[in-house]
Amino acid sequence: MTQHDRLLIIDFGSQVTQLIARRLRELNVYCEIHPYQNVTDAFLKDFAPKAIIFSGGPDSVTREGSPRPPQSAYELGVPILGICYGQQVMMQDLGGKVDAGQSHTAEFGRAYVTPKDDRLDLLSGWFLDGSGREQVWMSHGDHVSEIAPGFEVYATSPGAPFAITADLARRFYAVQFHPEVHHTPNGATLYENFVREAGFKGDWTMGAYREEAIAKIREQIGDKKVICALSGGVDSSVAAALIHEAVGDQLTCVFVDHGLLRLNEAEEVVGMFRDHMNLSVIHAQEQELFLGELEGVSDPETKRKIIGRLFIDVFQKYADRIEGAEFLAQGTLYPDVIESVSFSGGPSVTIKSHHNVGGLPEKMGLKLVEPLRELFKDEVRALGHELGLPASFIGRHPFPGPGLAIRCPGEITREKLDILRKADAVYIDQIRKHGLYDEIWQAFVAILPVRTVGVMGDGRTYDYACALRAVTSVDGMTADYYPFTHEFLGETATRIINEVKGINRCTYDITSKPPGTIEWE
Ligand code: XMP
Repeated sequence: MTQHDRLLIIDFGSQVTQLIARRLRELNVYCEIHPYQNVTDAFLKDFAPKAIIFSGGPDSVTREGSPRPPQSAYELGVPILGICYGQQVMMQDLGGKVDAGQSHTAEFGRAYVTPKDDRLDLLSGWFLDGSGREQVWMSHGDHVSEIAPGFEVYATSPGAPFAITADLARRFYAVQFHPEVHHTPNGATLYENFVREAGFKGDWTMGAYREEAIAKIREQIGDKKVICALSGGVDSSVAAALIHEAVGDQLTCVFVDHGLLRLNEAEEVVGMFRDHMNLSVIHAQEQELFLGELEGVSDPETKRKIIGRLFIDVFQKYADRIEGAEFLAQGTLYPDVIESVSFSGGPSVTIKSHHNVGGLPEKMGLKLVEPLRELFKDEVRALGHELGLPASFIGRHPFPGPGLAIRCPGEITREKLDILRKADAVYIDQIRKHGLYDEIWQAFVAILPVRTVGVMGDGRTYDYACALRAVTSVDGMTADYYPFTHEFLGETATRIINEVKGINRCTYDITSKPPGTIEWE
């Protein structure tokens, strides 16, 4: 199996460390993020990075005990790029000086750097638009007041006289700003220059990944059996398709139909996997069980807990029928496995209990197969494409495990679910017709637990109100509402009210996240 060149990102707790990894993956460079606490001498030796990046971070290097890399990182003889806090760490460690925050040198937000000496390979492609400067994104209170011996200054900004510095002999580079964020428009070029200088071949492609992942899955599973909870979402679908390609009939998928799916969803998912992809899929029809236990329940957390518990019971019931299953496949992605640096130390507040099959493997004595653990969401999509999944399937909006239950605030009834399914289908149809589906992270209808008075024809109506939701987001962690035109909203409301019996009023939810969440419950 090919051993890819590896780049190590040492995480000092920046909010945007994942973006560094994204930029590198876009350059077909294999990289991993590890929190600084885990990066020991032994770890470095074992990881054998071809280059290292120090991320930003919220601490101050002037504070005793602040996060540092091991000294041996500087002795590996590989290029290092320090970003923001990472720059300050480098300067302090290598004999320079950092001063704690003073208002006149702090910079937050947009800034412009101008070159002092642009003959640095790292800056190739910079300062070419005639303005003689580049926009960058700064976010620092502390600043470097004296660069370390061996470093030269290559660019400055009003608040950062050492905005871009380098020690060419040791191939150490340090920048005060964040080249990974969108607001440093030419930042990707800087990463490209860095990895090229470090000698990366850019061999991390989806085609290569697919071959290697298949070989790994075969090695792990041998002639044993695997089961997979197929949700119809992109992650579990791609995981199932990949494992099927690796071990064929040794894989059985269980699709749990809890009666909380969208219009025609079960048929589409089961049809695609069973008929088109020839996977063995058990369609667990458990609508009665789920809807029965949810009857009369209106508290969101109680709903989530009931669904989570039943899901595990049902999955286990069907899995027990598959004789000799030793492995459970999961579509865990890289963002789920990155251990982030926690500075607060304390447990964070539970906003919603997400339902997944987390506790299952131990309970059932199964071993995990997680072939997507190294991938980001868009890489999973690219892999799905490689594996021949239809584009319409790969590009589907995320759908939560508890399904329509959390889009039906208050009590869930079959009547409300039917109305909701129809309204949602009209809404999505509108979005697709207007060519907006791919611009939106997620769009859905929530049926509200209120009836309102309306007039249709000459008659009075007393029907449900619904809320349309559509958000843009990169990872679901934060989100903004989608700015539909009034024409679109008006047309959609009219269609829903005309075509869906049971709804006579439509509202559009314009709450961002935070303070709202994407789902209503
Ligand atoms: P919220 O509502 O917390 O949702 O802003 C963020 C993203 O997560 C999805 N979501 C879930 N996904 N199980 C899932 O698999 C869950 O229990 C769950 N709850 C919310 C939600 O659709 C959005 O994409």
